[in-house]
Amino acid sequence: MDVMHRLEREGHVATLTLDRPEAANALCFPMLLHLRAELEALRHDRDMRVLVVTGSGSKAFCAGADLKERAGMSPDQVRRFLVEIRGLMDDVAAMPCPVVAALNGLALGGGTELALAADIRIAADHALMGLTETSLGIIPGAGGTQRLPRLIGLPRAKELVFTARRVAMDEALAIGLVQQVVPGADLATAVATMVARIAANAPRAVEMAKWAIDRGSDTDLRTGLELEERAYATIIPTRDRLEGLAAFREKRPPIYTGE
Ligand code: COA
Repeated sequence: MDVMHRLEREGHVATLTLDRPEAANALCFPMLLHLRAELEALRHDRDMRVLVVTGSGSKAFCAGADLKERAGMSPDQVRRFLVEIRGLMDDVAAMPCPVVAALNGLALGGGTELALAADIRIAADHALMGLTETSLGIIPGAGGTQRLPRLIGLPRAKELVFTARRVAMDEALAIGLVQQVVPGADLATAVATMVARIAANAPRAVEMAKWAIDRGSDTDLRTGLELEERAYATIIPTRDRLEGLAAFREKRPPIYTGE
């Protein structure tokens, strides 16, 4: 079976690239299964500090679900597809380490949902985002109705979902849909800079901070603060915590090992 993605590893950073440029990197069923298997392995890799998700070429990050494949599917097959695509987004969101979406081009439907499942979005200035589903007679089915309002607020999310319109990157930046927009030629450098900053920090601390933010944002403040306390407790016995203190005392950069 054709593999329609690439996984590259450089030090503590893995880059997962959707590699189906002839179909605007749209997600077909076999691709979903391969990507999910890849993420399952990455999830258990304690040496990884950041995952970057991107698309090949400069046109598309991901044009969402494969609409040509969809046309030949029975309702049951569509349901099965939805389980897998929702699962893919959940797998991305549940990665212990931070996930950076590098938006190299348009991200529509499931492409935007994939970007929403990441922790940080950095985009090329020609990228476009949009939950286009209602214009296709469906609704966002891979987390879009839930993750978009949590990110940009209910009224804006409703407007974008109801109109199905495409959002250019100046607007995306203004409403917090992406964190950073750079010229396309500078995307790789901007992503590498962000990734290097994250990867230089204590990996277990970053991981537990992500855990506390994610779990806490779904709950009330009191419960969230208790989650933070629990997260902190797991960090106290780490060697990296002592390394941070030693590096501060010795006025040198810390060298973290993840222990
Ligand atoms: N599923 C399957 N194939 C797709 C696709 C999708 N979601 N999106 C694009 N493609 C294919 C096109 O069919 C075309 O293939 P072809 O040359 O064999 O016909 C190729 O990718 C290039 O797309 P094309 O439409 O020719 O380029 P464009 O620059 O005019 O437009 C898009 C690109 C992505 C804007 C346009 O194809 C589009 O709107 N796609 C649908 C995106 C969408 O709404 N996705 C949400 C799904 S829920």
